[in-house]
Amino acid sequence: MAEHHDRETIDEWHRHAEWWQREFTDGADAEYVEQIIPMLTAALPAGGRVLDVGCGDGQVTRAAADVGIEAVGVDIVTAQLAVARSRGGTPTYVRGAVARLPVANAAVDGVIACLVLEHVNDLDGALGEFARVLRPGGSALVVLNHPILQTPGSGWIDDQMVDPPEQYWRIGPYLPEATTQEEVDDDVVITFHHRPLSRYVNAASAHGLHLVRMHEPAPPAAYLEQYWAFDAADTIPRLILLEFRRAV
Ligand SMILES: C[S@@+](CC[C@H](N)C(=O)[O-])C[C@H]1O[C@@H](n2cnc3c(N)ncnc32)[C@H](O)[C@@H]1O
Repeated sequence: MAEHHDRETIDEWHRHAEWWQREFTDGADAEYVEQIIPMLTAALPAGGRVLDVGCGDGQVTRAAADVGIEAVGVDIVTAQLAVARSRGGTPTYVRGAVARLPVANAAVDGVIACLVLEHVNDLDGALGEFARVLRPGGSALVVLNHPILQTPGSGWIDDQMVDPPEQYWRIGPYLPEATTQEEVDDDVVITFHHRPLSRYVNAASAHGLHLVRMHEPAPPAAYLEQYWAFDAADTIPRLILLEFRRAV
């Protein structure tokens, strides 16, 4: 079963690796530049070795290396790893699945999973692996599309049919776990697994990863420019960063 899901993931992300690299990496995406990378580097451990799981082209891995961390990227898709290696820097890269990491027990001081777990079918397997490879006291930094607000079917609504017109953020079904295929760009269909926030926090806790901090940043300037017509745009976060600590 795990192999079946891995095959689907590999096919999907192999098909879309070039799109991801072109649209979101190497400075192409303002949200990464203005928000995601600074937020993650600020939360990293002061030194040591960090594993960036589902590293893609390695943009977060390189940023970790730039602040003095020994950074290792893991991804299941060779088309991502090839580009990560070609982009250079000091990180090393290894092929592997998030739920079966090719790393020894208690071998790293930190794990990063940036916009990855919402694409991973086996959440418990992934969190179990984070706990296994982390040294006691090590931290796991998990960036997600905010599960409470970025539900399937969520989005800005500009309702001109009511008097006075209303603008609001619609939240779709939050409590049920759901797997959806979303067309995020022309001919780019990606699988997302929606889970309530408690599912993430409780599953992590069951593996000895305890939540120590949550960051819910307001959207960055580039996003607000795009949604300037919605007064409430700066009150609805797109992202959440969960900081877990491995029990000692
Ligand atoms: C949205 S991209 C994020 C890439 C990178 N973390 C970043 O922030 O730039 C998701 C990445 O997760 C990888 N991925 C998805 N499922 C995976 C799995 N089960 N094991 C390893 N990598 C996986 C994909 O190949 C893809 O590179």
